[in-house]
Amino acid sequence: MGGVSGSQTEHIVGSSAPRKEGRDKVSGCARYIDDLSFPHMLYGATVRSQIPRGKIKKIDFGPGVAWNEFVIVSAKDIPGRNWVALIENDQPCLAADVVNHPEEAILLLAHPRRHALPKAVAAVEIEYEALPAVFTMDSSERQEQIIWGTDNVFKSYRIEKGDVDSVWAKADYIVEGEYSTGAQEQLYIETNGVIAAFDAEKGITVWGSLQCPYYVHKALVELCGLPEDKVRVVQTETGGAFGGKEDYPSMIAAHASLLAMKAGRPVKIIYDRAEDMAATTKRHPSRTRHRTALSKDGKILGGEIDLVIDGGAYMTLSPVVLSRATIHAGGPYYWPNVRVRAKAVATNTPPHGAFRGFGAPQALFAIERHMERLARAVGLSPAEIRRRNFLQPGQTTITEQVINEPIDLGKLLDRALGLADYEQKKRRFAKENPLGSEKKGMGIAAFLHGAGFTGSGERHLASVVGVEGSADGGVKVLVSSTEFGQGTNTVLCQIAAEALGLPYEDVTMARPDTGEVPNSGPTVASRTAMVVGKLVASAALGLKQTLVAAGLLKGNGTAAEFRAACRAYVAAHQRLRSLARYESPEGIYWDDQKYRGEAYAAFTWAIYVAEVTVNLTSYSTRVDDFVALQEVGRVMNPVLARGQILGGVAQGIGFALYEKVEWREGRMANSQMTNYTIPTSADLPAVRVFFEELGNRYGAFGAKGIGELPMDGPAPAVVNAVEDALGIPFDSVPLLPESIFEGVERAAAWRATTARTPAGVR
Ligand code: MOS
Repeated sequence: MGGVSGSQTEHIVGSSAPRKEGRDKVSGCARYIDDLSFPHMLYGATVRSQIPRGKIKKIDFGPGVAWNEFVIVSAKDIPGRNWVALIENDQPCLAADVVNHPEEAILLLAHPRRHALPKAVAAVEIEYEALPAVFTMDSSERQEQIIWGTDNVFKSYRIEKGDVDSVWAKADYIVEGEYSTGAQEQLYIETNGVIAAFDAEKGITVWGSLQCPYYVHKALVELCGLPEDKVRVVQTETGGAFGGKEDYPSMIAAHASLLAMKAGRPVKIIYDRAEDMAATTKRHPSRTRHRTALSKDGKILGGEIDLVIDGGAYMTLSPVVLSRATIHAGGPYYWPNVRVRAKAVATNTPPHGAFRGFGAPQALFAIERHMERLARAVGLSPAEIRRRNFLQPGQTTITEQVINEPIDLGKLLDRALGLADYEQKKRRFAKENPLGSEKKGMGIAAFLHGAGFTGSGERHLASVVGVEGSADGGVKVLVSSTEFGQGTNTVLCQIAAEALGLPYEDVTMARPDTGEVPNSGPTVASRTAMVVGKLVASAALGLKQTLVAAGLLKGNGTAAEFRAACRAYVAAHQRLRSLARYESPEGIYWDDQKYRGEAYAAFTWAIYVAEVTVNLTSYSTRVDDFVALQEVGRVMNPVLARGQILGGVAQGIGFALYEKVEWREGRMANSQMTNYTIPTSADLPAVRVFFEELGNRYGAFGAKGIGELPMDGPAPAVVNAVEDALGIPFDSVPLLPESIFEGVERAAAWRATTARTPAGVR
């Protein structure tokens, strides 16, 4: 690359620059947490609750174990506060007197030999006084047992737009439906793991596989009772996260830190797959009820939406997951009147947490299934009912946010249907389906996803990023934003290179280390390219201005001149660093009480079309073709963007058709990859990915978020296609062959009954 500012470097953003860490990953040089070790390091393990709820009466250390070789930590050893600091500090780091879910951590053990641990964990005998437990949202809502607070409710929200109570009398149709979604395991390739080391002078240092170094930092400060500068958190190469390493790493880092403080030696904890699946967070199960008033031409007049998510035993992230679910509950449609009532309730299962989409996939599954029911009621096609209700520029969302970008969802729909050959295939399947035991169908999902933190979230985060010029003339990006496979390193380097007119190769990333980098916020909420990227561009420009002000660089210097200026500046001043802090765009208004206003700085938009075959011998469903068309602002890196969509669609198809958590008394019974089934490449179609690019005035070079969006659409598109194939509506996911079997049997029985019933009776 020439490296001259101007035409050549203008193409870095928008080009498929190779992954910054890609070479290390494919050559095996990348070092994940379990590749690292320290001299005299111990291995840690966790003794967990065997029951869902109860009082801890007695702990015995059973025979056959040399207990004097072990470091043992209980809640009594916690120097600071016994909680994992997050939103509200209700989750203990170690259970002291009571347990509230299976797998809750009670004791920690450490030993020099990893293989000595399982036997010791099994030899700890805990006597409980069992208390009645709550396993379903229904039972939690009925308050048969109060297991959290005074009413089992972690959080509730209410949105009121217009006057819903007035619409029912005017409605030509009133349509009701209930929709539910199950838990889903993130199933990152690399399980959770950390190493903690304690030094009386330097304090605690933790290295680990994680998304949010400063979340872990905050948790350790409170747990260890240490000042902020005595806690350091370093992200190591991370093999996937998907939200699953948003809050849980604070827990495992806390455990390793407690052991390291007591042992005076570094401690490593790595979960095996079964422990990771059973004990750590999953997607919140949900139940959504819709009641909608329609005009005779299929226009939504108004509706009531009641949404409940299952938070598990402690609050953790449930309020924010619920917030995103609430705001996405209306889908990409115009509601002149709407009431949304949403709540997150407690059950005695491990806390549910972040998973790609963060509440939106649950809410969007409900509305996109409900749209099919509305279509049937009015006698319109699935495409037409959506077209008549799509949000238009100038209209407002359910939080009364004005759509002020020129999005044309009707056009997006036309393009997606054309790409999928939708109409022709529908006609063909209608002819062919009666003939064989394989039924084919087409399904549509239309949806939106808010990019960045909700409401005033970004203002509260007040993220800071740094860009540094080094002695060799290169540029380094300093952020706490982490790479876990999605492309953070690459895209942020592209942005800095573009802003400075430098070759991509001249820009590198600092390791996310709270001792080295400013807090650019958590790597969540589809915010990194858009929000952090914008700050990187602005910090980069600040760097350039510093060089210009120092008289070392002219406005539009070449890359070589930039490098020389950097070198000269660092030689004279030791350090060349520019910081940028987030500032709220003008005119952003959000009311946290009324849940009204600008919920997100930008929305991304998508139409997905699924083609499926349901086999009526095996009752299995296969996705034959999948068109994913989305508007995500400027596409920063086409190869990475496409990868994000492919991965999200794969996880979405898993959510729809494969992935079922079997719960037994609050515990995941199928915590293995042999019995928790996810789709493999053999189960997936060649997903066809298309983009539209409207741009975005808030994001770096027009970027919006892309990470979560593709998780939202596949489940409703696939289940809508199954309905099209069989003529049977299914309203919950995962939709496994046994559910299809039952649905087909029920429909056959119903047809037999109606056939015997004289006309007019039904
Ligand atoms: Mo993500 S689900 O916002 O960690």
